[in-house]
Amino acid sequence: MKISVIGTGYVGLVSGTCFAQMGNSVICVDIDAKKVKELKKGNVPIYEPALEEMVLENYKNGSLEFTTDIKNALDASEICFIAVGTPMGEDGSADLKYVLAVAKSIGENMTKHTYVVDKSTVPVGTADQVRETVQKELNKRNSDLSFDVISNPEFLKEGAAVEDFMKPDRVVIGANSEQAFEKMRELYSPFTRNHDRFIAMDIKSAEMTKYTANAMLATKISFMNEIANICERVGADVNQVRNGIGSDSRIGYSFIYPGCGYGGSCFPKDVQALAKTSKDHGYIPKLLDAVEEVNYAQKRVISTKVINYFGEDLSGKTFAVWGLSFKPETDDMREATSITVINELTSRGANIRAYDPKAIREAREFYLKDNQQVEYVNSKYDALNNAEAMILLTEWKEFRSPDFDEIAKRLKSKIIFDGRNQYNKNIINKYDFKYFQIGVK
Ligand SMILES: NC(=O)c1ccc[n+]([C@@H]2O[C@H](COP(=O)([O-])OP(=O)(O)OC[C@H]3O[C@@H](n4cnc5c(N)ncnc54)[C@H](O)[C@@H]3O)[C@@H](O)[C@H]2O)c1
Repeated sequence: MKISVIGTGYVGLVSGTCFAQMGNSVICVDIDAKKVKELKKGNVPIYEPALEEMVLENYKNGSLEFTTDIKNALDASEICFIAVGTPMGEDGSADLKYVLAVAKSIGENMTKHTYVVDKSTVPVGTADQVRETVQKELNKRNSDLSFDVISNPEFLKEGAAVEDFMKPDRVVIGANSEQAFEKMRELYSPFTRNHDRFIAMDIKSAEMTKYTANAMLATKISFMNEIANICERVGADVNQVRNGIGSDSRIGYSFIYPGCGYGGSCFPKDVQALAKTSKDHGYIPKLLDAVEEVNYAQKRVISTKVINYFGEDLSGKTFAVWGLSFKPETDDMREATSITVINELTSRGANIRAYDPKAIREAREFYLKDNQQVEYVNSKYDALNNAEAMILLTEWKEFRSPDFDEIAKRLKSKIIFDGRNQYNKNIINKYDFKYFQIGVK
């Protein structure tokens, strides 16, 4: 099939590349000319396991192209995916300006029937707005071209995006014509060969499904973080409690890890966008508001522990930070807890020496670019030299079993603040560390 994907970010680049890998002809379009130029030189702008090899392979064999020219891309495709960002607006709602700008370009440029598929995460009712925007442009051109608008929310996880896309748990399609469902079934059948994972529904329900999934996951995290905070105060150990409840199959072990808050480009904005939609429709979503509130506070739990131990004035003190990305296996730092923790500490005079396997460039060039008190190093051990304490914020695999002798030798004092409860307390005790974790006194 011939496909265009508008927006070549985490979702667009992964989707386009995976469609190409299955034998489709894909043109990825982005307005960022620099990004397109780099992609054409073989430079993949983001880190995702297995992505670079697949991009290069499909670009070389001609099944994947990159361009800034949406007109040519629409001419050469029958299906057009919208995969641009939907960042949080001032009032918490999803900002649809990029999605609607793409819809306008589609209306201005399409020359034949097109399946317009919305893959961006968008509030209920957006497909109607996309349809109206495309139609308005067609009317201006006195064109009677027909088109279908389809909702196809994306459930991939950064850090495992290629794997998730190639082997999806489900493919949710919202449409209002049989031909649209059929086209999507055909496109996705190579990805769901093992068993049918195609879930067809109406468009509004498909739009709502994505927000509901993210809100549920964020709720599990905030719930467990709240339990962790109670455990800490009553003298229980949340790690043991987690084991105790996870064994109940109705609860399960996944997504109930206590930690220093969720970040990323999805949960924070999607929980707030859903809450805003709800309020706009006259319903106060008490639970969703609380999920966000708990997370806001949770991002400050580790810096508060550091401040409680070392005092409000941290000037002249250096702390080692392990992990900058919002989660492991990605370079994405959007809404990462590391930004909050580092800024809380440096605003009190601390210096930070930070290491991350993939996200240092993002931190240095964008998210912490104005913070002169942060130094970046290329090895986790170098971050420790003469630092007051080590602060672990992202659960990268390389942090799981570190050389504790080396940590003890390099730190000024043997103190670890563990924002992800990575270490076994018995092992830590052998080395005589002072060990602070989430949800344990
Ligand atoms: N990142 C994730 O893990 C994830 C997972 C599921 C769903 N989503 C959703 O998918 C959407 C995209 O997210 P992302 O993380 O890939 O965003 P991103 O910011 O990484 O990428 C968006 C891209 O769109 C481009 N763009 C903006 N306007 C454009 C236009 N008019 N024409 C062409 N390109 C344009 C930008 O230059 C950028 O490259 C969002 O709605 C997000 O909520 C993201």
